[in-house]
Amino acid sequence: QADVFTYDPGFTSTASCDSTITFIDGDKGELWYRGYPIEQLAAQSHYLEVCYLLLYGELPTAEQMVDFERRVTRHTMVHEQMHNFFRGFRRDAHPMATMVGVIGAMSAFYHDSTDINDPWQREVAAIRLIAKVPTIAAMAYKYSIGQPFVYPQNELDYASNFLHMCFSVPAEKYHVDPALARAMDRIFTLHADHEQNASTSTVRLAGSSGANPFACIAAGIACLWGPAHGGANQACLEMLREIGTVDRIPEYIARAKDKSDPFKLMGFGHRVYKNFDPRAKVMKESADEVLELLGIHDNPTLQVAKELEKIALEDEYFIEKKLYPNVDFYSGIILEAMGFPTSMFTPIFALSRTVGWVAQWKEMIADPQAKIGRPRQLYVGEGKRDYIEVGAR
Ligand code: SDX
Repeated sequence: QADVFTYDPGFTSTASCDSTITFIDGDKGELWYRGYPIEQLAAQSHYLEVCYLLLYGELPTAEQMVDFERRVTRHTMVHEQMHNFFRGFRRDAHPMATMVGVIGAMSAFYHDSTDINDPWQREVAAIRLIAKVPTIAAMAYKYSIGQPFVYPQNELDYASNFLHMCFSVPAEKYHVDPALARAMDRIFTLHADHEQNASTSTVRLAGSSGANPFACIAAGIACLWGPAHGGANQACLEMLREIGTVDRIPEYIARAKDKSDPFKLMGFGHRVYKNFDPRAKVMKESADEVLELLGIHDNPTLQVAKELEKIALEDEYFIEKKLYPNVDFYSGIILEAMGFPTSMFTPIFALSRTVGWVAQWKEMIADPQAKIGRPRQLYVGEGKRDYIEVGAR
């Protein structure tokens, strides 16, 4: 019984948030996936292995990894009819809008794996999502730049396949640089899961009603898009570009501290971390590596980012408020150097986080205590009163 999703519509509690997947210590700046520190996974593992860990709770044996990679690889193509969805969007539509629409539409194509009471169908839906979201993200990018869609190549690893689908064109051979693929893979790992953040809570809440997993992931993508959440990587790079030079940093620091100014330092601060976001540290090292690899020296955006971090961390306001760089502060610099437009930064966050959303959704569905999410509110409005005819108002 434990593995069958049931809920009694009479319950009004929220979905259970006990979880064995990700641990965060915001004061110490620690992040573990199934007990393994993010620093070790980023340095020694790879994204598909991290997917296996997040989904099944243990690191895979060599045989388990081969089988898992085979299952994901053979689901990377999307139904040919799904290509038509893209043509309904304007070319300049934000790729996040396209992803919300197309991934939601997966519900219409993969109804054979949407009976969430069937553990096997939950497994198939999980694999399909992890396999197809990068393909759909790459298609959204290609569509936005007017280039033809590029099919996945089964002989490529997950990160190389994504780079290939984004950057190769039929007119010429495209060689995936293994070092860049490694950096891309690390970015996927750093974004894979993060406990009960807003988009994961959205997926859990949507899933607690019994909605199919494709619709739940589309809801998570929609939530992630916000600049206070996953949209911060795009907003942060645009902010760094706007600051432009180191001498303009004090002006923006002052604005960030001014309560009358809605401006926030993008890529800074966190609901949970009151210390360094461990992912930001790894991302900062990776930024140096990737720019070096690409022969990009004296990148002005990176210079501004590093100086901004230094000044902010010495500023009493940021010290008092415990504001540190988060995962979004350096990621955009790497992605821009790789050739991605800012509009693709959050889609890359979304494809990385799909495994976390799916793992959390599966955990909740399998939890006998999981009930339909129905948060209550504290009503502070008008007391009960009688209707007033319009002439008497
Ligand atoms: C992600 O939840 C997750 O795990 C999310 C995420 C994940 O992996 O899923 O980690 C990904 O969303 C990272 C966050 C990306 N967003 C940004 O970088 C946008 C800029 N950051 C802020 O919008 C803000 O820091 C939040 C929304 C992230 C957190 O806001 P909170 O909850 O207000 O943070 P806080 O309570 O610690 O703030 C303390 C104070 C507040 O001022 P007071 O009310 O005490 O006067 O610091 C202020 C905040 O207003 N503050 C900032 C600030 N962030 C917080 N002031 C200036 N610039 C900032 N960036």
